[in-house]
Amino acid sequence: MIVLGLNAYHGDASACLLRDGRLVAAVEEERFRRIKHWSGFPSEAIRYCLAQAGVRLQDVDCVAVNGDPGANLGGKLRFTLRSLPSPALLLDRLQNSGRRMSIEAALEKAVPEGTFHGIVQPVEHHLAHLASAFFTAPYEHAVAVSVDSFGDMSSAAWGLGAGTRLQMDGRVGFPHSLGIFYQALTQFLGFPHYGDEHKVMGLAPYGQPSYLDEMRRVVKVQADGTFRLQLDYFRHHREKLTRAQDGGTPESGPLWSPKLEQLLGPPRTPRAPVTPRHADIASSVQAMYEEALGALLGHIHAIYGVDNLVLAGGCALNSAANGRICTSTPFRHLHVPAAAGNAGGALGAALAVWHDSEVEAPRQPVEHACWGPGYTDAEIGVVIKNLWSRLRARDCAVRSAGNDAEVCEFTARALADGKVVGWFQGRMEWGPRPLGNRSILADPRRADMREFISQKIKRRDSFRPFSPSILREAVADWFEVDADVPYMSQAHPIREERQDQVPAVTHVDGSSHLHTVSASFNPLYHRLISAFRDITGVPMLLNTSFTDHELLVCNPAEALECFLRSDMEVLVMGRYLLDRSRTTG
Ligand SMILES: [Fe+2]
Repeated sequence: MIVLGLNAYHGDASACLLRDGRLVAAVEEERFRRIKHWSGFPSEAIRYCLAQAGVRLQDVDCVAVNGDPGANLGGKLRFTLRSLPSPALLLDRLQNSGRRMSIEAALEKAVPEGTFHGIVQPVEHHLAHLASAFFTAPYEHAVAVSVDSFGDMSSAAWGLGAGTRLQMDGRVGFPHSLGIFYQALTQFLGFPHYGDEHKVMGLAPYGQPSYLDEMRRVVKVQADGTFRLQLDYFRHHREKLTRAQDGGTPESGPLWSPKLEQLLGPPRTPRAPVTPRHADIASSVQAMYEEALGALLGHIHAIYGVDNLVLAGGCALNSAANGRICTSTPFRHLHVPAAAGNAGGALGAALAVWHDSEVEAPRQPVEHACWGPGYTDAEIGVVIKNLWSRLRARDCAVRSAGNDAEVCEFTARALADGKVVGWFQGRMEWGPRPLGNRSILADPRRADMREFISQKIKRRDSFRPFSPSILREAVADWFEVDADVPYMSQAHPIREERQDQVPAVTHVDGSSHLHTVSASFNPLYHRLISAFRDITGVPMLLNTSFTDHELLVCNPAEALECFLRSDMEVLVMGRYLLDRSRTTG
């Protein structure tokens, strides 16, 4: 049975393909279109998934779609009658429902050489989130929770997973949303773009939560652990603010109302300097989010009494909050999937449909996140040959290693010598984090690396932290926890006595966004970090995404173009070793 999962007409449009319940391919449309968070119909991602699996459109039995226009209609009508939102908002909702209903037509347009004979199965947005977390988790039993801005008129949901069964038992409905709260305050702090919330999370540790009392007037935690927004501070419930659901980067007008300015003072404009006051507001936003999430999780744990938690939805990308869940709530084990946001809803929808089908089949483990395109050394060689004159003009030495050991030895030496390395290996990561296949790597011992990479290579805000990839077996020796965090989804404190040894990956509060690397998950990357440890005694590398214009590079040509434009000194693609450090000095 072939199930194609789609996230369409949402930000982070994506597709994945399951064959008999086993994941074969998964990718975000943005990686092909080269437009961040691309929304609309994921036609390129679909074509890739079919090609990777070697199947035709007519072989697809079911298309599982993240989102069900019919879900929560009662809630929609009740809210509509009570709150009288603008005609533009209502029209937008109806148009989006109409687009989803024409999935068959969009499929045949995306794959004109094929014909679709299967069925289209919509899956409620939060059920898709819950399924993306539970059916990829290493637990037979777990509480599943999703928290986001909105999907199908809900902003949070929870339920219980057991084996191949998953039930959704509760929701928080429109217009109350922790995702909207965080996004509105992110805009208020002068970060207006879709997905900018991680900048507020990175800024928060520089401040104090001195505005927490004010935040508690904006978000009201209820006695039952759920939350409500004080709607006077928002606009999303009465105006159409989002755009570009059928292509391009999603945008939103200001979600906050002028009353928020009365509460917090003037907002920051995007180009204004970031001041300590902004850091204090960011710290307070983060503290409020953690307080509300903690109350919700405490309430949900009391319902089920199960200590395993799986978490998805856009808010599950908040790795700082995730890192505190197992110490500040009754849950003891946490799994956050590689694609926790809306892209992952494609996989969640597909897994929900598969496990709901009549086929009796056990859970199929999803043991890594490298489900995107990969390239052979021969293909990489052709790209290098095509750009040979430009590489020569930059005095770039190119050679091919004989085996993986030589690749790792060369790369580890370059890193230990202080060079910044582009690392392009295997299949591209699914989800927003670099997990060792499309990464820029550096020596975490060098304090100046952070500024150098921020300014010269990534050209991003200097307050944003860098993450380490650490050998799984060394975690307890370097961190205050001993946990598997294979998808870089949790921040944890680095042991105090170790912090001075790895200043480039130690955030201002002593924490770091942990990425644990096991030999079974990514053997080549594990081998590379081991080689670096053998030279330096430090079992970790600074790991940041190999991006070109803020988008993860997908193919060798993009990686090479990015290398030539930046101050990166070494590029390792497959077994090809490119070194221009003699000229960049
Ligand atoms: Fe969502």
